[in-house]
Amino acid sequence: MSTNFSIKAIHFGSKEYLEMVDLRRKILRIPLGLDFSEEDLNKDINSGLLASYNSKNEILGCCVIDFNPLESTIKVRQMAVDTPFQNAGIGKQLMLEVEEWAKREKINRIHLHARKIAVTFYQKQGYKVCSNEFTEVSIPHFEMEKRIKSD
Ligand SMILES: CC(C)(COP(=O)(O)OP(=O)(O)OC[C@H]1O[C@@H](n2cnc3c(N)ncnc32)[C@H](O)[C@@H]1OP(=O)(O)O)[C@@H](O)C(=O)NCCC(=O)NCCS
Repeated sequence: MSTNFSIKAIHFGSKEYLEMVDLRRKILRIPLGLDFSEEDLNKDINSGLLASYNSKNEILGCCVIDFNPLESTIKVRQMAVDTPFQNAGIGKQLMLEVEEWAKREKINRIHLHARKIAVTFYQKQGYKVCSNEFTEVSIPHFEMEKRIKSD
């Protein structure tokens, strides 16, 4: 499917944030029979929140980024693209935006916990597996990372 979309940074607690949580719940939690706790969502308070929209301002995809300035790293989490819009380049565009943030902030390394079924998606963006398999939210994951060169 070909879709025009744009990425925006959104604010914790806003209307856009509530839409983002709905999308994350639909794509990342309900299929596993899970939901977010208040503690889960409180982790977003100090995070960067990115969402992708179509021309009707409908949310198509999102991710959350946690900066660790002391270690010069970013952790990406909660990457989700709504089902009808998957495989249209939205996830790739979100990951490129994260890299732009990383370069601006002089970050050396981006890392994430990839679901096993999404490892190839991240490999296509240049991420490498850097852990053994482990279980998170009841399913297999791998830690993955990408080294970033700031200009
Ligand atoms: C995984 C996900 C974020 C990818 O986003 P997307 O917008 O569908 O992916 P894109 O269209 O940007 O894909 C970019 C490339 O990765 C490939 N790709 C996408 N999802 C893939 C997957 N699950 N496995 C293997 N390759 C995948 C695409 O085919 C495309 O390849 P190409 O560049 O050779 O054409 C999205 O499909 C999704 O939300 N899936 C369900 C939830 C999930 O697994 N989230 C990840 C949690 S770690």
